[in-house]
Amino acid sequence: MTTEPLTFPLANAGPFDPPSELMAMREGRPIAPLRLPDGRLGWVVVRRATVRSVLADPRFSARQELRGNLSPSGGSLPPAPPGMFIGMDPPDHTHYRHLLTGQFTVRRMRQLTARIEQLAEEHLDRMAAAGPPVDLVATYARPIPAMVICELLGVPDEFRERFGQQVAELSRQDATPEEQQRTLVGILTYLGELVREKRSTPTDDLLGGLVVDGAGLTDEELTNLAFMLLGAGLDTTANMLGLGTLALLAHPEQIPVITNPDTVDNAVEELLRYLAIVPGTLRTALEDVEVEGVTVRAGETVMVSLPVANRDPERFADPDTLDLTRQTSGHVAFGHGVHQCLGQQLARVEMRVAFPALFRRFPTLRLAVPQEEVPLRDEMLIFGVHRLPVTWED
Ligand code: HEM
Repeated sequence: MTTEPLTFPLANAGPFDPPSELMAMREGRPIAPLRLPDGRLGWVVVRRATVRSVLADPRFSARQELRGNLSPSGGSLPPAPPGMFIGMDPPDHTHYRHLLTGQFTVRRMRQLTARIEQLAEEHLDRMAAAGPPVDLVATYARPIPAMVICELLGVPDEFRERFGQQVAELSRQDATPEEQQRTLVGILTYLGELVREKRSTPTDDLLGGLVVDGAGLTDEELTNLAFMLLGAGLDTTANMLGLGTLALLAHPEQIPVITNPDTVDNAVEELLRYLAIVPGTLRTALEDVEVEGVTVRAGETVMVSLPVANRDPERFADPDTLDLTRQTSGHVAFGHGVHQCLGQQLARVEMRVAFPALFRRFPTLRLAVPQEEVPLRDEMLIFGVHRLPVTWED
């Protein structure tokens, strides 16, 4: 057993496998020291039970000024700005989250489902018209979640394209910090304008709903809420669609399980378990807490590894195998506890529609390059593929 701390980020062992250093911890080393990007020494935990207990424990805080930063730029973060409740603890977190939960209504999700089906078909038509080969990330995996966020927030049609471009800029790899800052300011300015417009002419969408429901939120809070939804809902779903397609192409015998309406829901859960594209999340101890026989001191940060918890043999038989026919439940791809993903039902709907639609339209879909040449997002906080060149028989 090494006493050297591990250092974040750790490279994934492959397109579908978490870092081998963390996977090795499953053999009797459930907690290990971890050096965070800001230089601080914290801890990492990998067992599903431990991950869940840390995420459910109010002695661990999600306040972003305490929990530090997983981003490669490191550095400490200021307190979460008004509205960005992902980096807050109860009761501030609870206040905002309740307001938003009221907007994720069954009716709105149903409307979005019909719209996602339409969007998927439109993008497949465009793919067919362009002809093979295409980059599936640019033509399908990214635009669908981007359009869905627009629908949810109520971005008017005439602004969709420009807004979509700005949003795509946000995750551009080669952008300089100045360019990133310009894009960020551009999006926040646009969202601010949108909020003011909804105040004068309320519409039947999430932002419109928050304005008329008299939630008493300021323009700044609404703008930040919208921005948080954008950040949380875009790269995540887009990368599940991109990497999920790669996983399905690598296991073609399992594709009929996802195109079958009776088994698609379960297949999506298994993809979520197996791929877990969010490498982890951070919590900071507010007091000394015993975790797996170690005292995590007040002020120390723990990273919970969601991908390795999803490969825990205590919960999942043969955990490193993708098996779309297994009855998958209890994975932690969406986190756990009070911060568990607010958009999970929406993300599920997007995947339940987009995967089957893709493979039904293009039953001969295959990679246009050898799998080793597919560029992986190893350096990004949300894992996945940068591009996915695919081809098919016309
Ligand atoms: C497959 C796609 C997705 C994955 C894997 C995912 C994963 C996660 C995870 C792991 C967390 C917990 C973070 C933590 O505990 O620190 C989270 C939180 C969150 N997600 Fe998602 N997410 C996805 C899609 C979405 C979508 C589509 C939306 C919105 C439209 C969304 C909105 C949010 C929000 C607002 C939070 C913060 C919740 C809170 O702090 O109470 N996510 N997500």
